[in-house]
Amino acid sequence: MLDAGKVDMAMTDALIVAAGSGERFGDQPKQFVLLNGRPMIAWVVERFSRQKGIDRITLVVPAGSKDRFEQVIEQHGLEKVEGLIAGGETRQESVRLGLEGLAPDSDAILVHDGARPCPTSALIGRILETLRHKNAVIPTIPAVDTLIREASAEVGEVVDRTGISAVQTPQGFRTELLRRAHQSAIEKGIRSSDDGSLILAMGEIVTTVPGERTNIKVTFEDDVAMAEAILARDD
Ligand code: CTP
Ligand code: MG
Repeated sequence: MLDAGKVDMAMTDALIVAAGSGERFGDQPKQFVLLNGRPMIAWVVERFSRQKGIDRITLVVPAGSKDRFEQVIEQHGLEKVEGLIAGGETRQESVRLGLEGLAPDSDAILVHDGARPCPTSALIGRILETLRHKNAVIPTIPAVDTLIREASAEVGEVVDRTGISAVQTPQGFRTELLRRAHQSAIEKGIRSSDDGSLILAMGEIVTTVPGERTNIKVTFEDDVAMAEAILARDD
């Protein structure tokens, strides 16, 4: 167990994973889909570059598309981006490769989905603040719909919604702890698209803070209109 509260947060990184292939989205790479005229990845990076307390940004991108990302970063004058790293087959692998490419002096890290363009500064700040005295922090949203287990288009059972939440990003960690969690996952063959789960699998405590209903993940094409409405309202 790390001694929370006594760890220096001098160097805080944002690791934005954007190396997926967007299979559910359709033909075009969703990282560059225009939201109110700006590529999604530009919205995401901007949120972190203007956040006090974030020192550096590293982007994990599909192998072979670094140039296109670099262009967007330059065109939109995005600051703090220190590195572009080629990702892997799964989100887990992309995070791990990102961690390997990170400068060794990283104390704390916020891992964020490149497909979530709308986290507010308040949410990012809440993660950073909680990380000052906790080792792992994730934002959650209590489930609002009735949840069922389904089989062959029939209701198997209704899941008791008490205490059930959906997990979002950015998730914050002591960098050393997240590195250990990814290493341990490889050794034990644990797979998860969620970093907090890998921490939990090591028996460490993961703290939750309120997420935001507007912090949506652009997964399907019809999420674009929703993201545009949220960004138009926020900005
Ligand atoms: N991601 C990644 N590397 C992968 C897979 C996913 O960096 N091999 C990233 C995505 O780019 C995205 C985030 O993880 O920002 C969340 O993943 P998701 O929304 O599932 O995006 P995709 O995997 O690209 O979409 P799909 O699952 O529909 O193919
Ligand atoms: Mg995916």
